[in-house]
Amino acid sequence: MSDPWQHWRDQFPILETCTYLVSHSLGAMPRAARAEADRFLDAWATRGVRAWAEGWWTIGRDTADLLAPILGVPAGSVTMLQNVSLAQSVIVSSLDLRGARRRIVVPRLDFPTNMYVFEGWRRHGAEVVYVESRDGMTQPAEDWLAQIDERTVLVCCSLVLFRSASLTDVAPILERARAVGAPVVLDVYQATGTVPFDLTALGVEYAVGGSVKWLCGGPGAGYLYVRPDVAATMAPAVTGWAAHARPFGFEPGAIDYAEGGERLASGTPSVSAWMIAQAGYRIISAIGVPAIRQKSLRQTRRLLDHALARGWPVRTPLEDHRRGGTVTLDLPDSARLSADLIAREIVVDHRPDAGIRMAPHFYTTDGDIDHALAVLDELVRH
Ligand SMILES: Cc1ncc(COP(=O)(O)O)c(C=O)c1O
Repeated sequence: MSDPWQHWRDQFPILETCTYLVSHSLGAMPRAARAEADRFLDAWATRGVRAWAEGWWTIGRDTADLLAPILGVPAGSVTMLQNVSLAQSVIVSSLDLRGARRRIVVPRLDFPTNMYVFEGWRRHGAEVVYVESRDGMTQPAEDWLAQIDERTVLVCCSLVLFRSASLTDVAPILERARAVGAPVVLDVYQATGTVPFDLTALGVEYAVGGSVKWLCGGPGAGYLYVRPDVAATMAPAVTGWAAHARPFGFEPGAIDYAEGGERLASGTPSVSAWMIAQAGYRIISAIGVPAIRQKSLRQTRRLLDHALARGWPVRTPLEDHRRGGTVTLDLPDSARLSADLIAREIVVDHRPDAGIRMAPHFYTTDGDIDHALAVLDELVRH
């Protein structure tokens, strides 16, 4: 029987040379990304400065609108930025941190860049409050509730934690935040493209993420979603001339913010990065995240069953509804094992306090998984 996923595998050159199990870190490059890069370079080479008026200036809007349905949000509500760090900075810089409400709540196991940004705002009045983890792997919703109150100015919550792929039970956290009037930013980076979600249905004020991982979009294509009614009220201090209502008026003095997603933009758009990212978005959209999720759950289960049968320490939740797309194995000497796997063309990675991270994506075959596990068996024995 022919493999229905083979057509998609054929779009990713790296799969011809290695077993690629690291899409939680860097998704494989689609062939169409090269065509997009060529399109960018051809425009630069042949059209020069005229390229700005022929699609470059509006590339952020086109790219964000292609991404919006994957996030479950309307066109116009997503802004392309360089990365999550900048997107979080835009959000925090629009908050009033001088009143009684100035606590930012963040889970201890969050991706540290979020903490680095929030900690920097202490000098402007922010208090950063951490939700501790009891097991170093999960951040159960009940542990958040006591931390979120009328002093909370922002709740930052990762839908999927980056070390363990623990999928956060966000509903009680959102309910608590809503009850005390605290806005929420969901970091969806480790979910987008592998775990389906709908930001409109969730009702969150903000979401941030990037394209490097499951979206197969490459670096430089971060994104910021803001609920349209909230965006209309924002006046971020972290801004730039692309956020001006009339950028080509070059008006001196304070900014007159644009309407919609452009209001949250920065300076000159990252044209090449955003064009390239579109190649990944088109593939993810064509397959559909629910179909990717179904395959991912089956293949992460295959990894888990093998690990559990051998008594290997697993640092990923076992229940399907509690895990994202990665399996983390906390084997002794994980850093060396990870390096040994990579030396055998099995591309995985390793994180301190977590272990070896292995992730199937829609282009992964069961054969890839079985091969990686057979080699790992061999390495563990010696
Ligand atoms: C959950 C999460 N947030 C943020 C980032 C990265 O942030 P930035 O886009 O600023 O590099 C990562 C990984 O790189 C991540 O896993």
